[in-house]
Amino acid sequence: MKTLWRNARLATLAGPEPWGWVEHGALLSDGDTIRWAGAQAALPAGLQVDAEVDLGGPLVTPGLVDCHTHLVYGGQRAREFELRLQGASYEQIARAGGGIRSTVAATRAASDEQLFASARQRALALMAEGVSTLEIKSGYGLSAEHEARCLRIARRLGRELPLTVRTTCLSAHALPPEFDGRADDYIDAVCAWLPALHTAGLVDAVDAFCEHIAFTPAQTRRVFEAAQRLGLPVKLHAEQLSDQGGAALAASFHALSCDHLEWLSADGVRAMAAAGTVAVLLPGAFYFLRETKLPPVQALRDAGVPIALASDHNPGSSPGLSLLLMLNMACTLFRMTPEEALRGVTAHGARALGLHDRGTLAPGQRADFVAWDLAHPNELAYWFGHNPCRRRIVAGVETGR
Ligand code: NIG
Ligand code: FE
Repeated sequence: MKTLWRNARLATLAGPEPWGWVEHGALLSDGDTIRWAGAQAALPAGLQVDAEVDLGGPLVTPGLVDCHTHLVYGGQRAREFELRLQGASYEQIARAGGGIRSTVAATRAASDEQLFASARQRALALMAEGVSTLEIKSGYGLSAEHEARCLRIARRLGRELPLTVRTTCLSAHALPPEFDGRADDYIDAVCAWLPALHTAGLVDAVDAFCEHIAFTPAQTRRVFEAAQRLGLPVKLHAEQLSDQGGAALAASFHALSCDHLEWLSADGVRAMAAAGTVAVLLPGAFYFLRETKLPPVQALRDAGVPIALASDHNPGSSPGLSLLLMLNMACTLFRMTPEEALRGVTAHGARALGLHDRGTLAPGQRADFVAWDLAHPNELAYWFGHNPCRRRIVAGVETGR
C-alpha cells in the first residue's frame, strides 16, 4: 500500500541542510518503507497512490529510538532514593547488598505476567512520546532461567506492540548473591549460558557493567570473547563511576556502543573513534545520581564519534520514562545542541543498535515517523514536562499516540 503524507515540515536529518530541513514537505511510504521524501513541490509527476493523508502542517521527524533501557524488572527503589538524599552513595548502597541486587530479588519473585504488564506500561509511556524502536537489556535475572525469562518478555513486547524491540543480554550486570565472592565463577556461568540464550533467539547484543562495583576489564573481556564466538555484537556500560579503560577494551571488540562515559579518557575517545563505536550518553542517570563529572562531549565531537542519547530507564539510576526529557537534559547538562540531541535519539541511536534502516527520513528507510504539535525541531529539546507528540506512524501504519 502506497500512502502519500502531505503538508509537513520535515526534519529529515538527511542531506547537508541543518536538520535536513524541508519547509513544505511530503513523504511517500510503500508498505513499511519510505520511497520518497522531500519538498512537496518536487513530488514526481503522475504519482499513483492508494491513500493520501493531509498532515495539516506539523513538524515531522523520524521515529525516536531509545537505544539503552532496562525496562523489564520487578519492584522499585524509592527507599534507596531517600537514602541517597540522606547522604548514602550509589556505591555504598550497592556494596551493602542493595541497589541492583534488590531489584534482582524483586524480579525473581515476580511472575511472568507481572513482569510483562509492568514493562508494557513503561513501553507505552515511551511510545506515547514518539518512540518506535526500543532496546531492552536483561540484567535483573542473573541466572540462566531468569535472564531467559526477562529476554522472552522483552521479545513478547516487540510482538504485541507496534514497536521494534532489540534485546541485549546484560547478565554481567552485578554478582548474584549465590556467587558471593566468586565473580570469576559467575562469569564462567554467564559465558556458559549465553549460547543457549542465543540459540533460543533471545539475544541481539551482549553488554556488561565494567566498574569497580561490578566486573573488571578482564572479566568483561571474557564475556566479550563468548559473544564474539557466537558472532554477537557487544556494548558496554563503561566509565560511569571511574575510568576502567572499558571503552578502549570494548572498541577493540568493535563494540556497537559504549554507554555512560562520564570518566572516559582521551585514549578511550581515540579508540572509539577508530572503531566506529557510538557514544551513548545517559543524562537521566547523571542527573538522578547527582553526578558532577561531565562526559567529554567536545572531545567526542572533535574525534567524530557519533553521540546517541537514551533514557537508561531502570529503577536505580534513572527511573524516568521520557526520552524527550533526555533531549532537554543533554542540552542543559551536557551542552549538546538541540540538533545533536535529536540526532542522538534517531540516527545515532539506531547506529548504537547496529540498525541502518532507520533514524532519517530518506528513501529506503523504514517508514517510522512522528508528527509533533510543534513548528520547529529545536522545540523538541526546549519544552519539558509536556508531550507534543500528535501522531505516530510505525512501518507505514498510523498507530495513534
Ligand atoms: O545503567 N550502571 C549500571 N546499570 C544501570 C543501573 C542499574 C541499577 O541501579 O539498577 C545503569 O545506570
Ligand atoms: Fe544502563
